[in-house]
Amino acid sequence: MQTNIRIQQIQVSGIRRFDEAISTIPDILKLTVGEPDLPTPAHIKKAAIAAIRDDWTHYSPLMGFAALQHAASTYFNQKYQLNYDPEEIIATVGATEAVATALLTILNPGDTVLLPTPAYTSYEPVVSMANAQLVPIDTTTTGYKLTPTALQTALDEHVLDHVKALILNYPTNPTGVTYTRDELQALQKVIATAGIYVISDEIYSELTYEQAHTAFATLYPSKTITINGLSKSHAMTGWRLGFILAPHDLIAEMKKTHQYLVTSTSSISQAAGIEALTNGLDDGPAMRSVYQERRDYMVKRLSEIGLNYIYPTGAFYIFVQLPTDFEGSSWDFATRLAHEAHVAVVPGSAFGASGEGWFRISYAASQSVLRESMNQLALWRVQTASQE
Ligand SMILES: Cc1ncc(COP(=O)(O)O)c(C=O)c1O
Repeated sequence: MQTNIRIQQIQVSGIRRFDEAISTIPDILKLTVGEPDLPTPAHIKKAAIAAIRDDWTHYSPLMGFAALQHAASTYFNQKYQLNYDPEEIIATVGATEAVATALLTILNPGDTVLLPTPAYTSYEPVVSMANAQLVPIDTTTTGYKLTPTALQTALDEHVLDHVKALILNYPTNPTGVTYTRDELQALQKVIATAGIYVISDEIYSELTYEQAHTAFATLYPSKTITINGLSKSHAMTGWRLGFILAPHDLIAEMKKTHQYLVTSTSSISQAAGIEALTNGLDDGPAMRSVYQERRDYMVKRLSEIGLNYIYPTGAFYIFVQLPTDFEGSSWDFATRLAHEAHVAVVPGSAFGASGEGWFRISYAASQSVLRESMNQLALWRVQTASQE
């Protein structure tokens, strides 16, 4: 008896596979997983403890507690001028479930989804589960950003393929680039003409360093499904709390998918979320300044080491080019670096074919881990260069 063929073809993500492969190396310095090292703020933890004490330990309504929907509606309005009614918001099990619920709700078998690449690893498997196809749009020659011309070309090339949606993710994992309002407006014109949905994964919206974040739904409200959450902005990855924000008609459909996937997200996490969204407006900016210092430190060190990278303006990643004298794949490079220098980074190929030749550093690690790993990388570079 055969299990589902599409699931057989999916693999655990390259990020996790690589991380698991190098985890047994003693004293490994991990710059792999996009996991904030900062603790969840104390006031949020207290709210969760109080929730347990007060027996908030049962099912919540499917879309989340009304108090959470209200808090999220106000928060996203204050932060990014988004205008969603509380009833247009679903509390999800992290942004991960939000992405899955959105894609499984809108896609029919045979539909096409466009995705600028290199990209985060969780989109393609879900598109495949929906029996739809993902078409990558290579951004390596356009500054790692999608351009209106590249988008139009992809739409033209796939005019017969039922293009249903474009996935945007900015600030972008793995490159750390983000878009200006003008750039988004130019994309919006092409998207609106095509009439496709946009799934806009803005999980790193609080982590933009040089400019304010523009939410795509402020430009294209009727067909944007906004994905956000507290994992990165409030260092709450383990609480599993994310959000889908979308117009009523889409939310009504997504509510059903959400119900049959997960029923609802944890009541205790929702209590923590109400606190984060109500009294934690400054938590994101406080973390942002910590990450920005680290970003500045990392680009300085990488420049001194002589490595080429994409200057990151958001999230907590730097995409770095393999040294020109290295012969081999990004997986080979990251494996050698882990074994020989005890520094773990993610091979660029984990983010799609267009990531080959590069590797991703996550600088959501402590300053001492960052310093030590850059020291070891610098030493390893000198040693390997002198051997060749
Ligand atoms: C772009 C992007 N979207 C979604 C997620 C998943 O977020 P969550 O932990 O809230 O499920 C991540 C996590 O790394 C991410 O980088």
